[in-house]
Amino acid sequence: MYKLETKINVDSEEFKIHKEAYLQLLNQYKEVLREVKNGGSQNARKKHKERGKLLARERVDLLIDPNTPFLELSPLAAYGMYENQFPSAGIITGIGVIHGRETMIVANDSTVKGGSYSRETIKKHVRAQEIAMENHLPCVYMVDSGGVFLPQQSEVFPDKYHFGRFFYNQARLSAEGIPQISIVMGSCTAGGAYMPAMSDENIIVKNQGTIFIGGPPLVKAATGDTVSAEELGGADMHTSISGVSDYLAENDHHAIQICRNIFETFAVKEKQLIGLSPIEEPAYDPEELYGIAPIDLKKPVDSREIIMRIVDGSRFHEFKARYAPTIVTGFANIMGYPVGIIANNGVFFSETALKAAHFIELCNARKTPLLFLQNITGFIVGKEYERGGIASDGAKLIQAIANANVPKFTVIFGGSFGAGNYAMSGRAYEPRLLLMWPNSKISVMGGEQAAGVLVQVKQEQLAALGQTMSAEEEEKLRSGILKTYETEGSAYFSTSRLWDDGIIDPVDTRKVIAMGIAASLNKKFPEPKYGIFRM
Ligand code: COA
Repeated sequence: MYKLETKINVDSEEFKIHKEAYLQLLNQYKEVLREVKNGGSQNARKKHKERGKLLARERVDLLIDPNTPFLELSPLAAYGMYENQFPSAGIITGIGVIHGRETMIVANDSTVKGGSYSRETIKKHVRAQEIAMENHLPCVYMVDSGGVFLPQQSEVFPDKYHFGRFFYNQARLSAEGIPQISIVMGSCTAGGAYMPAMSDENIIVKNQGTIFIGGPPLVKAATGDTVSAEELGGADMHTSISGVSDYLAENDHHAIQICRNIFETFAVKEKQLIGLSPIEEPAYDPEELYGIAPIDLKKPVDSREIIMRIVDGSRFHEFKARYAPTIVTGFANIMGYPVGIIANNGVFFSETALKAAHFIELCNARKTPLLFLQNITGFIVGKEYERGGIASDGAKLIQAIANANVPKFTVIFGGSFGAGNYAMSGRAYEPRLLLMWPNSKISVMGGEQAAGVLVQVKQEQLAALGQTMSAEEEEKLRSGILKTYETEGSAYFSTSRLWDDGIIDPVDTRKVIAMGIAASLNKKFPEPKYGIFRM
């Protein structure tokens, strides 16, 4: 593979100003992240510690192998909602390594509303299990939760992807032979009692963990019996009488050690074979991405400048370089793993879609994971292009993406607008991970285009009634839509609602994608299989 050559002068004033502006944006994000990672209020944390318990992130740190990374998912879930009373939606999820096995870790943060499940907590838990299923990752649930967030019951309890889905997923994961371990480190009430009960093995902490279908107040109300939580569902009872739990732990540290010991007993797993190369740093400093990542999405960026700061040795075997220049396709390595990269370099034309679909076929046939780098305003519009059959060509790309059987990863480094989001493996296309850079934006179209469309629709409605719109009314409508699109298009808005798996620092892109690929190898890639490509 040849090394890409940059055309950017990193010593130019323009570059430095851009980098400075980007660092401000990034620091803002890091500040929010730092705050959120504290978890619940100071009082709640103090109370938690005084009970001899470790905080949720401390538990995760102890569980994973020393000096290995933890890929935390969606730490800003529920950010900006509920007056920010649900930091990280009260649950920590992510991929960590335990005895060399990539594992999905799900840990309730009981300093946040008693670890109860709001709408976003549920979404995050279900997403973690989905990732475990797609990649065949063992799961560890560190349970410390008051169950559903009762004031929100209509949004968390009865629907298909609500609380009940956890246990359905546990059964399906189990049937796939995916090990699941629970550590009961606090409350585990009502439906939540299924969490340990449906795990292969579970550990419960003495005088701290409880498991019951109905807690003491409910028992009192239903039967009139007064019973303590410990008596009803404590560690001693469950490990000696009911048999619901398998191991009695003295404290959090002990419980985590038992869980690690269980991992030593797992069967060895055959992984997907993949051609590994020695790891090499990019030839260009990844920090230069700060001077390149688009802040003003109207300014074009040559996506090769992004690629060369992400891939090993900045080397890239470009495919069809002279054809359909608004998309860049080619092979590279990321931390030794082979990847096929598809990166936007302008709007989608018919030939753009055809080139990308052809490249996906190559990667699928060669069992090479795919990385989509999104910066897309959408498809070209106009009579000429519709006559050329752009709808059918876009459909071929969708057919290729939706049926690609290799793991897909999507990083939004700029804009993600309209049908371009779909054509570049957006959330609906099940990339194994979807990540956003802090500058990125996502919406059905740009705010200005949306305002233009809606103003025109309104004008036509009024014209049919023989009326017109004043300049003032038009401006009011336009500015309202622009404001909504500005807010709803931001990476924060997206990540808060789990439209993605998290915002990342551009510099971390390499590591995150490499970890995603490493995790994906736990499930063998199926053989290629497609539907009908309309020709
Ligand atoms: N729904 C909504 N809020 C809940 C909640 C739930 N299920 N469980 C706890 N909370 C809230 C509390 O209202 C409190 O909120 P605040 O900080 O705004 O005052 C916060 O979480 C902490 O609760 P607290 O009881 O003070 O903490 P604790 O550590 O002493 O006890 C529990 C935690 C989970 C054992 C206890 O709150 C409890 O038993 N909750 C109800 C459990 C239940 O019956 N769930 C059934 C739902 S399926």
